[in-house]
Order: sequence, then C-alpha cells, then structure tokens
Amino acid sequence: MKTDIESLWVFALASKSCTALTQETSFAWLVLIVGLAWFTMALLYWAHPGGPAWGKHKWRNNNNNNNNSNNKPLIRPTIPGPRGLPLLGSMGLMASLAHRRIAAAAGACNARRLMAFSLGETRVVVTCHPDVAREMLNSSVFADRPIKESAYGLMFNRAIGFAPYGLYWRTLRRIAAAHLFCPKQIKASELQRREIADQMVGLLSKDRRGGESGRGLRVREVLKRASLNNMMGSVFGRVYGLEHHDWVSSNNELEELRELVDEGYELLGLLNWSDHLPWLADLDAQRIRFRCSKLVPKVNRFVARIISEHRSSRTGERTRDFVDVLLSLQGTDKLSDSDMIAVLWEMIFRGTDTVAVLIEWILARLVLHPDVQSTVQDELDKVVGRSRSVAESDMSQLAYLTAVVKEVLRLHPPGPLLSWARLAITDTTIDGYHVPKGTTAMVNMWAISRDPEFWVDPLEFMPQRFVTHDKNEVEFSVFGSDLRLAPFGSGRRTCPGKTLGLTTVCFWVASLLHEFKWLPSGRSPVDLSEVLRLSCEMAKPLNVKVRPRRRIINTSH
Ligand code: HEM
Repeated sequence: MKTDIESLWVFALASKSCTALTQETSFAWLVLIVGLAWFTMALLYWAHPGGPAWGKHKWRNNNNNNNNSNNKPLIRPTIPGPRGLPLLGSMGLMASLAHRRIAAAAGACNARRLMAFSLGETRVVVTCHPDVAREMLNSSVFADRPIKESAYGLMFNRAIGFAPYGLYWRTLRRIAAAHLFCPKQIKASELQRREIADQMVGLLSKDRRGGESGRGLRVREVLKRASLNNMMGSVFGRVYGLEHHDWVSSNNELEELRELVDEGYELLGLLNWSDHLPWLADLDAQRIRFRCSKLVPKVNRFVARIISEHRSSRTGERTRDFVDVLLSLQGTDKLSDSDMIAVLWEMIFRGTDTVAVLIEWILARLVLHPDVQSTVQDELDKVVGRSRSVAESDMSQLAYLTAVVKEVLRLHPPGPLLSWARLAITDTTIDGYHVPKGTTAMVNMWAISRDPEFWVDPLEFMPQRFVTHDKNEVEFSVFGSDLRLAPFGSGRRTCPGKTLGLTTVCFWVASLLHEFKWLPSGRSPVDLSEVLRLSCEMAKPLNVKVRPRRRIINTSH
C-alpha cells in the first residue's frame, strides 16, 4: 500500500513537473517565435530603400491594399536612399554636421534630387536640388512642421514657428507681418539699430587695446548682446547698453534672458531620440523633457512680468512695442496670456542668434579675404565718406557689401537644412515619387548653394558673382524666389523676419567695416570649421584685431 501511495506521489510529482516543463518550454517557444517574427519583420522593414520607417509603411500599406479586394496593389517607383541600421535607420546622418552627412549620402545613393531615409520610425525625404526644393517648399501640402517634443515642451506650438498650419498660425503671421515686420515698422526701429551700432563701435574701440596686446578680441559676445538688445527693444520695448555695467544695472534682466535663450536654443537644436523612437519616450534618456520643464516656468515668469508691467503702464495713446500690439488685439485676434508669452518668447529667440551668427561669418570671411574687405571699405568711402557714420539710407547704394552678405549666406547659411523641417499634411507626389502623409521633408540648402551644376567655382568666395553689371540685369533675390539660394526658406512658411534680419545684418556690418579695419589676431587664425546647433555657427569663435579707420567722435551721425 505504502509503495502504491509512494508511487502515486512520484507519478503525481513527475506529471506536475512535466506539465510545468511543457508550460515553460511552450512559453520559451512562444517567446522565441515572437522574437523571431519580430526580428524578421525588423529585417524586412530595414531591407527597404530608405530604411525601416519606409519599409514599415510599405508593408502596412501593401497589406491594407490587399485587404481591400477592390484595390489592385499599386506599383510605385521607390525613392532611393540609405537603409541605415535596423530599427534605428539613419539616425547617424543627423549627428553633428548633418547637412554634410546628408549631402554625402545623397551623392553616394545617386539621390540628390530626392533621397529617402529613416530616423527611427520617422520617414524623411530630403532634396539637394533647387527644382525639387521649390516643389516641396511652395506646395501647400508641406505647410506644416513635424512634431518635436522640445518645441512643444517650450511652447513653440503656440507660436508661429511650430503652430500647426491653420487659422491660428495664419492669424499670428498676419499680426506679426502687420506690426513687427512691415516696412513702416522696420523703418521705425532704425534709430534703435543705429544706437546699438554706435554702442558696438564704442565697445570695440575700448577693448581694442586688449586685442592688440595679442589676445585678440572675441566679437561673438558683443554681437549676441547687440542682437539680444535689438530684439528686446523691438519686442519688449526695453533698451539697455552693451557694457557689462549696463547688463548689471538691468537687474540682470538681460543676463537672465540670455541664459533662457541659450538654454532654449540648445534644447531645440538637439536631436531628440524619443521624437523618432517612441518606445524610448518614457525614459527621457537625454533629459530633454526634464530640462524643458525647468526652463518653461522661468520663461513664463520672465515674460509674464513684462506683460504685466506693460498692462499697468498702458496709456492707450500709442503703440510702442510688440507687447503693446499684442495687448491691443481685440475680437477673434485676441490672444490668451500664455499664447502671448509663446509668441513674444519665440520672437526674441529667433531674432537673436540668427543675426549674430551670420555677422560673425561675414566678419570671418572679410578677415580671411583682405582684398574683399578693402573693396567694401572703398565703396563705403565713396558712398558715405569718412566724415560721418553709415546711415540705413546709404544701404541701397552699397551694392558690393550686399553682394558680400549674399555670398556669405551662400557658403555659410545659418540654417543649412533650413532650420526647421516641413511635414506632409496629405499624400502627395514629389519629383514623380509618391510621398505619403506624415513624411518629414527637408531641403539641404547648404548642398544646393555649393553645387557646381548651379554655381561657377562654388567653393570660392567670390562676392562679385552677385554684383549686377548692367542696369537691366535683375539682382539675385535671396528671399525665396530663386531656390539656388534661399537661406530664409520659401513658400508659406518662409521666414517672416527675413527683411528685418537682413536689414540689421547689412547695416551693422556696414557700420563695423566703416569704423574699423578687421585683422586676424596673432594667436588664433580664422578657422571656418562649423558646429550645427539650431543654427550653423563657427565652431571656434572669431578672434580678431580691429584698427579704427576714421576718427571716432562719440555719437556723431
Ligand atoms: C539672418 C537671419 C535669419 C535667417 C537666416 C532665418 C532663417 C529662417 C529659416 C530658414 C526659416 C524656415 C523657413 C522655411 O521653413 O521655409 C525661418 C523661419 C522663421 N523665422 Fe527666420 N531667419 C532669420 C531671422 C529671423 C528674425 C530676425 C526673426 C524674428 C524676429 C525670425 C523669425 C522666424 C520665424 C517666426 C520663423 C517660423 C516661420 C513659420 O513657421 O511660419 N527669423 N527663418
């Protein structure tokens, strides 16, 4: 009996462990099969030209078509492009100097007109050709921007740059065009630009001795302060000096804003992996969400304070700055406080660095090419003369200086990939290829403006290529009508600040060149290496010596 019971126990135990074993084994098999299926799918997606995001779309789309018996599967030409890595696609293309990497990949795939690639799960198309760029940028299908977590985190979806294409975005553009960027308003802020130019000249004259002692002068800081002051004046109606004590006497307001802009600039410029790999989203591995959440309350406090000061000091008699304009809006145009904060913050943010970055490139080129610098200065002497400083009314006669600015925009566009990409709102056709809804589109303006097919000796710095010789010759416009050089973009989402930005750049460069001769500093020669953040800047800040060209009389005009 005992033996029977024992054997029963043994049998029960054996059968139990067998069941457990079979359960475990079948679970392991299941995991293995699912894993293999997932791996095979990942490889299948990845095998598609353009990489995993394109493969996934193709497979899903084919399935949908096959499920619908009425639809014959469509045979469409495939956009060529690199596959990159399984799952990740070509994230590596966006690391460091993305414009150079993308141009090289497009060359290697023979896909300069249109190349497809994947950033994780994001489908991207990019063109290095002006005709295709025109097709993209000027199509209403690409009037949206792709979602970027940092842009949303920093409230830019409520400002012009990242607002979804629609009524709200159109309203903001109309308000900004009418009150900030229109010719009348640009003219009205001329005196402010003049004053800031004088302050820069004063500061550089003072610091010149340090520069001559061999250390050299770093102009970047002066330029950034100048353009921040300029935007502070136009947007918030606050004008300070450029010197350290002016910044301190502003209760550190300028220093605080500078830090906010710098942090926002860095966050928006980062490639956020979780924008493209949704399964990483919860981790916030790069701490971008965390940093945005720290920054936004500071921006809110800063801008809300300025709005409330404007509210309490409004007389209703006249409009002084952009805050007043926004506060005076009525009816359907009226903005909530949080929307106002987003719009004002974006203007400061966008207007500050682009201008400073471009001027630094221009000065660097002029130091590297003293012959070009002398020609600019000869022109200034002829048009303006040495007895007075430059006025904005002189600018229309400074054709060579304008050509220099265009040539620098060609070789060093601040937004080599046009800063912010576009998003296809619906399915469309570009250059004969089908581009599905939700695809991100980029234009590699840097590659286009260096392409030997469109430019003679493209790598040479030759401003004279933009000088018109004949009165009937039409001047080259950099404002988006000719896509061989459109550094401000084109179409519906073209840069609304382009005239203001270019007016500021040209006038300040003219003033700085009229007042000083710019020379290399003994210790650090000009280095044209780039670093791509939100804008493409000089990797090594420009270090120079300056020599006064005309006697500086404090505030002579
Ligand atoms: C040298 C100076 C500047 C350059 C090179 C530049 C370049 C650009 C580029 C390439 C775009 C994207 C255009 C597109 O998608 O087609 C853009 C958009 C934008 N820029 Fe500028 N910009 C400059 C100055 C400014 C200034 C001074 C402001 C304002 C104060 C400004 C405000 C904006 C805004 C709000 C957008 C977004 C437009 C939209 O999405 O509708 N920019 N800029």
